[in-house]
Amino acid sequence: MAIAELKKGDVKDIGLADAGKRKIEWAGNQMPVLESIRKRFIKEQPLKGLRLSACLHVTSETANLAITLRDGGADVVVCGSNPLSTQDEVAASLVKDYSIPTYAIKGEDNATYYSHIAAALDHKPQITMDDGADLVTTLLTKRTDLLSGVIGGTEETTTGVIRLRAMAKDGTLKFPVIAVNDALTKHFFDNRYGTGQSTLDGVIRATNLLLAGLKLVVAGYGWCGRGVAMRAKGHGADVIVTEIDPTKAIEAVMDGFRVMPMNEASKIGDIFVTVTGNKAVLAHEHFERMKDGAVISNSGHFNVEIDIPALEKLSSGHKEARPFVEEYTMKDGRRIYLLGEGRLINLAAAEGHPASVMDMSFANQALAAEYMVKNAKELKAQVYSVPEHLDKQIAKLKLDSMNVLIDKLTPEQEKYLASWDEGT
Ligand SMILES: NC(=O)c1ccc[n+]([C@@H]2O[C@H](COP(=O)([O-])OP(=O)(O)OC[C@H]3O[C@@H](n4cnc5c(N)ncnc54)[C@H](O)[C@@H]3O)[C@@H](O)[C@H]2O)c1
Repeated sequence: MAIAELKKGDVKDIGLADAGKRKIEWAGNQMPVLESIRKRFIKEQPLKGLRLSACLHVTSETANLAITLRDGGADVVVCGSNPLSTQDEVAASLVKDYSIPTYAIKGEDNATYYSHIAAALDHKPQITMDDGADLVTTLLTKRTDLLSGVIGGTEETTTGVIRLRAMAKDGTLKFPVIAVNDALTKHFFDNRYGTGQSTLDGVIRATNLLLAGLKLVVAGYGWCGRGVAMRAKGHGADVIVTEIDPTKAIEAVMDGFRVMPMNEASKIGDIFVTVTGNKAVLAHEHFERMKDGAVISNSGHFNVEIDIPALEKLSSGHKEARPFVEEYTMKDGRRIYLLGEGRLINLAAAEGHPASVMDMSFANQALAAEYMVKNAKELKAQVYSVPEHLDKQIAKLKLDSMNVLIDKLTPEQEKYLASWDEGT
């Protein structure tokens, strides 16, 4: 690839840029916290001259983050963090209207997906920004020549943080990474309310099913699972939860859900949503038990939660029933509908998280990148949390943008809370 070509990126159709720009601006209207950071970044240029490669879902919200980083002085390139999550019009606009080279095409095959990651690494990043740790994993395994130039990175999601912690533990990780996911202003809201709403949005857009009265099985009652279950209950679904963690299972019971093993749930569920970050949560033995017409979907990071090869083995064939809905006919005649190829359904069939929640997630990304640049020298090749003061600052900015006021501790209250002898 020639340099000029390389710098523009690789998008589906540059002619889609106008629609993408409107989408980016619309999302920007719901992202006041990120906008306030962008305004400060323009003045202070905290990322001046730094090469930054961001491997994120290429959505209108991500575009606003990329613009903020660029306005903070960074030389930014973007690639997709999932083959099915790219909004092609947004990718086109990033290239055409914002001069941010972007490598992402919705529906790209695996080879193209990894070639896009390779192109983002050809940018020789000093800062990496990941969603699922594919960029860092590729860098650490295939592009070790770049390691000496890397200052540090940030990671957006639970699964990425788990991978990075495993790398740090066995010494594979070679630079510090900030776990944006672990910020309270990220997972309390993004994972719960963002994934909760947008996952059901994806299921509904793909199938047009009425959730009321259906049995909806949520596998995993972590931050995302709680959100999916809560929102499905609001739609009138009969929600069933499966878990492997006893504490989470009690929580689900006390939140009013039925909890049972997947072997039982698979017999009665109408719709299944996996959000565990684990593999083969829906597997051979579950497909064998499912009812005719069962709908299966995933909102966890990787497309391994549903064992698709096992589904294929059990079926006599499959065909597209409608966009993002693949009908598998079992050898006994039952039909099972797989949504979005088992990839994150909220990004495959809908638009991912709403902008107002990504406002806080991406404010964390922007401030984490700034923090990394300022503090990298003191940090080791470990996974770090977002400092509490930044987390609180984001919460405060979000409240301000919503015109919500809260109380302040009085001096007496501060003293009372700080002392051990005033407990009576
Ligand atoms: N769709 C999205 O846009 C989106 C957004 C944020 C996070 N994620 C991804 O969603 C996944 C879950 O994230 P989270 O923040 O909820 O994680 P979490 O750690 O809070 O929750 C995961 C839960 O799954 C449970 N679990 C693990 N294996 C299981 C199994 N076999 N059966 C049933 N339950 C099982 C765990 O006990 C845990 O309670 C991750 O892969 C994360 O990266 C997706």
